Amino acid sequence: MPRPQLILGLESSCDDTAAAIVRIDEDGRGAVLSSVVAGQTALHADFGGVVPEIAARAHAEKLDHCVEDALAEAGIALPQIDAIAVTAGPGLIGGVVSGVMCAKGLSAATGKPLYGVNHLAGHALTPRLTDDVPYPYLMLLVSGGHCQFLMVRGPNNFERLGGTIDDAPGEAFDKVARLLGLPQPGGPSIEACAKTGDPERFALPRPLLDRDGCDMSFSGLKTAVLRARDKAMADAGGLTHRDQADLAAGFQAAVVEVLAKKTRRAFANYPQDAPLGLCVAGGVAANQSIRAALEAVAAEQSARFIAPPLALCTDNAAMIAFAAAEQAAERGFDDLSLSARPRWPLDTVRPSMLGSGKKGAKA
Ligand code: KG4
Ligand code: ZN
Repeated sequence: MPRPQLILGLESSCDDTAAAIVRIDEDGRGAVLSSVVAGQTALHADFGGVVPEIAARAHAEKLDHCVEDALAEAGIALPQIDAIAVTAGPGLIGGVVSGVMCAKGLSAATGKPLYGVNHLAGHALTPRLTDDVPYPYLMLLVSGGHCQFLMVRGPNNFERLGGTIDDAPGEAFDKVARLLGLPQPGGPSIEACAKTGDPERFALPRPLLDRDGCDMSFSGLKTAVLRARDKAMADAGGLTHRDQADLAAGFQAAVVEVLAKKTRRAFANYPQDAPLGLCVAGGVAANQSIRAALEAVAAEQSARFIAPPLALCTDNAAMIAFAAAEQAAERGFDDLSLSARPRWPLDTVRPSMLGSGKKGAKA
């Protein structure tokens, strides 16, 4: 099947409503003509997490506007589009259904082919869009809802080397920030607070480092921070700024160490003769300490380190449009029977990880 040339992408699997136009040239390279993202942080702020019903309703209301904005920004009219790509899972089911229904409507109205795309494939293929990285490469996906190491061997060929068995790291940053009385989202506030802290004052665990393989766990670390906080509060009659900073620094250092050491282990699974590349995606990749530690591991392994610009690292629709084009050569398009999948593991060989975080199902 020839590659579509102008693709409209839609994304609504969590708390960002997004639409984008991506142009694919003859060599399969992608150019982002527009990428519109409407976040929902304010809508969920009073609830301490994403409320699926509120998210689904907001997606249904905003998708049309995002599509209009994406077309206008790209200077493209709807009939010029060659295909429509939409996240069909995994994620919060109400949001995914909103996107799939919108895409089906557009496909039925325009007669253009429809592609249901795996959200994780969108993240995992982004380094091909931004840096034209050759296959195979190692991908660490770290966000509020996902955490996994993937060996990306082709557009439809992903091997999951390991992942979190409970919370995603972003989820842990958000929960720990709440425990320490710091604002949401927790990642940036913990990172700022940790700058003045002593990471060694509190002895916090490095979960699963003693176990072989690349699986990780962050839930026990969060509980350890809670216990240390309670003890510090009992000792001093309240939580001081110093305690806050030391706990934030200790927590961040533990996450950095776990991610770096597990990444080193993941390299052991790299095919010997392949050019080495370590790619990261997801909001947590914005953390400077995590980024520096991963960059150091890549350098140690003589591997190229690729972190796409943050706007394409976090949830967006350009990655969905590009993934559809990347996969198009190897698959047919979908029809109006396309269904939304709350769970959709990328690696169909290994058993999927169980558990469901505040940002949706982990796949
Ligand atoms: O990829 P993303 O925007 O959304 C999804 O999870 O789908 O990631 C958001 C997560 C939040 O949990 C946020 O706290 C975390 O990424 N995050 C960070 C930083 N910036 C955002 N975590 C650690 N350090 C940061 N600087
Ligand atoms: Zn995501």
